[in-house]
Amino acid sequence: MAKGIPLYNADDREGLRAASRFNAQLMDFLRPHVKPGIKTIEIDQMIHDYTRDHGHIPACLGYHGPANAPAYPNCSCISINEVVCHGIPDDRELRDGDIVNVDITTLVNGWHGDQSETFMIGEVSESARRLVQVTFDAMWVGIHAIRPFGYVRDIGAAIYHYVKQFGFEVVRDFQGHGIGRNFHQEPGVPHFWFKGTKSGSQVIRPGMCFTIEPMINEGTWKTVVDKFDNWTVRTLDNKLSAQFEHTILMTDTGPEVLTATKDGPQENHKF
Ligand code: MF3
Ligand code: CO
Ligand code: CO
Repeated sequence: MAKGIPLYNADDREGLRAASRFNAQLMDFLRPHVKPGIKTIEIDQMIHDYTRDHGHIPACLGYHGPANAPAYPNCSCISINEVVCHGIPDDRELRDGDIVNVDITTLVNGWHGDQSETFMIGEVSESARRLVQVTFDAMWVGIHAIRPFGYVRDIGAAIYHYVKQFGFEVVRDFQGHGIGRNFHQEPGVPHFWFKGTKSGSQVIRPGMCFTIEPMINEGTWKTVVDKFDNWTVRTLDNKLSAQFEHTILMTDTGPEVLTATKDGPQENHKF
């Protein structure tokens, strides 16, 4: 077995499926509310209440991530326009033309499910729409790049190659991650790979579970963490960033996308 990467048995897999299924059901519930005029804190409150009403735990609330970050104050990350990830919900209202990523993670009976979607608010610019489309398609390119006993780096190699064709850049400072009883664990899942990249050498075995969550930027791949809240991540050039995320279980026959439902955007969806 690959060092440090858990391989989940049949019972574990049912736990993982149930957690992701609930998380995806929460995203289904939320989707119609992500519209102009809603405050991001109102979306977060809905996530809190829905999760608690179903007897589950919002995994982000109080989460300690990077060593220097304070406990995360809310139930979701809501990242608008130039915010790459870890946007903290607040009184900001969603406005026509925004692109906004809503990232939700739930703890259900000891197992985590993690996913995100980028929404276009009202009418967005053609360049914003294109970024959202390429990011969504890049996630699926990553999903299709994996097979049992392939390598983690196959994901990043496929996504990087795909995204570069459109002149966009892949964020390097934040990655996908193994998931299960822990929110974040091995393996790290980079969304880029090119000659000389050292990470991604692990073999993907049946029973591994991890996220694929590319963050794609219009301009530079470089990011900055907010000096005041120590969480909010922005593009260095303040150009747009988009992201999609699914939780994936590798089975004996191929990847199973645990956080997909029939209500969400399907593969090949046109935004
Ligand atoms: N959901 C994010 C991810 O995809 C992590 C958010 S950690 C938090 O990995 F503390 F900011 F919520
Ligand atoms: Co997430
Ligand atoms: Co994640």
